[in-house]
Amino acid sequence: MSTLNKIARIMVSERRGILAADESIGTMSSRLEGVGVKATEENRRVYRELIVTTPKLAESVSGIILADETFHQKLSNGQTFPAFLAELGILAGIKVDTGAKPLAGAPGENVTEGLDGLRDRVRNYAALGATFAKWRATITIGDGLPSDRAVRANVHALARYAGLCQEGGIVPIVEPEVLMDGSHSLARCKQVTTSVLRSLFDELNLMQVQLDGMVLKPNMVVAGKKCPQQPSVEEVAEATVDALRATVPTFVPGIAFLSGGQSPEKATEHLAAMQQLDPLPWELTYSFGRALVGPALETWRGDNGKREAAQKALSDRAVANAAAR
Ligand code: G3H
Repeated sequence: MSTLNKIARIMVSERRGILAADESIGTMSSRLEGVGVKATEENRRVYRELIVTTPKLAESVSGIILADETFHQKLSNGQTFPAFLAELGILAGIKVDTGAKPLAGAPGENVTEGLDGLRDRVRNYAALGATFAKWRATITIGDGLPSDRAVRANVHALARYAGLCQEGGIVPIVEPEVLMDGSHSLARCKQVTTSVLRSLFDELNLMQVQLDGMVLKPNMVVAGKKCPQQPSVEEVAEATVDALRATVPTFVPGIAFLSGGQSPEKATEHLAAMQQLDPLPWELTYSFGRALVGPALETWRGDNGKREAAQKALSDRAVANAAAR
């Protein structure tokens, strides 16, 4: 078994999942401001410290994705975040993309950037304790969207990122997110997700990415937020698994879903329902951001007297998701 495969299997190992705490400075700042907390570097650090010091987190979390800022910050005890996680038996990951930017010639669509200098950045992060990385591409459904050019640009970047990570000895989380924004139906999301995943694996194969040394992080197949006809939990589970079965090679060790704006409870219910379907060739787990940490942030609101309650809110979500596996 290769080292990459070993790490990927730990990331998706039974009854655990991945916590996405890698919001960019801009996104994290607006989430803090949303709960009345001043968006300073120190407040982002304090909030991330609250997350990673949640008691018993390692029982339901195999890895945590960090943002570059957090990766270089220290906890109150003087340890860096990766060093602290290593002691807990939690793998440290790093978001390496530099965000989704408008794609030339494709109005309303984005391409994720960050390939420049990535080889050196991967080498540095690995030396500082990162064992895996994340790159998120976003695909918009709309009138005539996604365009072929947006899909191709994004899957090309994902595949080149994945290759560079593996060359540098870290496992790539490959995240093609078909966004929930809009009024599209479940069927439309299934069609787009299937086609994006098909293009993605063509590109990963072209770039000779080692499929057993990566983790796929897709969206669940859901209807758009504004779609008047919202599907049942079972319909989401079936549509998602259908799309994955049609496209994801069995060599891939695991699939760790993003939550994408679903409520924490719905995301967990969907994950649990998928496990009830016929045996699947890959581990199915979670790599949620908002659906794991949202309730903790809402509880904390910058009040250190609520620290323990906030950690309990996170712990409850992590345990519920672990149980859903
Ligand atoms: O890139 C997105 C995050 O890693 C997952 O966040 O679960 O809030 O969609 P989310």
